[in-house]
Amino acid sequence: MMILGLAGSLRGASYNRALLRAALELAPGEVQTQTFDALGALPFYDGDLEAAGHPAIVDELRQAIASADALLITTPEYNGDTSGVLKNALDWASRGPVRLLAGMPVAVMGASPGGNGAQGGIESVVRTLRRTRSDVLDRVVAVPHAAEAFDEALTLTDPRVRDEVAQLMAELADRARATVALAA
Ligand code: FNR
Repeated sequence: MMILGLAGSLRGASYNRALLRAALELAPGEVQTQTFDALGALPFYDGDLEAAGHPAIVDELRQAIASADALLITTPEYNGDTSGVLKNALDWASRGPVRLLAGMPVAVMGASPGGNGAQGGIESVVRTLRRTRSDVLDRVVAVPHAAEAFDEALTLTDPRVRDEVAQLMAELADRARATVALAA
């Protein structure tokens, strides 16, 4: 069982990268985890680039997704939406010849320093993933007031949030297990 993590912020001290790290650590014991950290190196989606053959970095992303049993995505909210880099990655991943995102179990989380917990970013990612026919969990985790949930080393310390994240990871692992069993 492999869960691949994608964080929608490129910032080194990003709360969303920290949230992803914490969530992957809180995954059930039998789950292996991996992240794809090069979203910022993906070119903007361009049909001409695609027609000429996927750029190597796009193939790397697609291979990482293809070898995963589930995705875990954390997103910031930028002006009410998800980040451009994350949307771009999902657009590349959504393309043929193999519809990698269709049927893929996905859990979505978001963090923001303000009071809304990146809800707009989360809703945007969920909407995109429904369009790609991904198996998006109804349960999401929104982390408002992130400066209070993480310590200075960006460790997720809020016990209530840690609990929510652990529940989400358990549900994602269950869903991935069920999907693998169905396909076998
Ligand atoms: C933001 N931020 C923000 N926050 C929010 O709650 N709602 C919003 O609509 C926006 N819009 C927005 C636009 C742009 C262009 C930037 C750069 C930032 C603030 C944002 O939540 C904050 O920078 C987070 O820290 C970003 O997430 P990371 O990088 O910490 O993961």
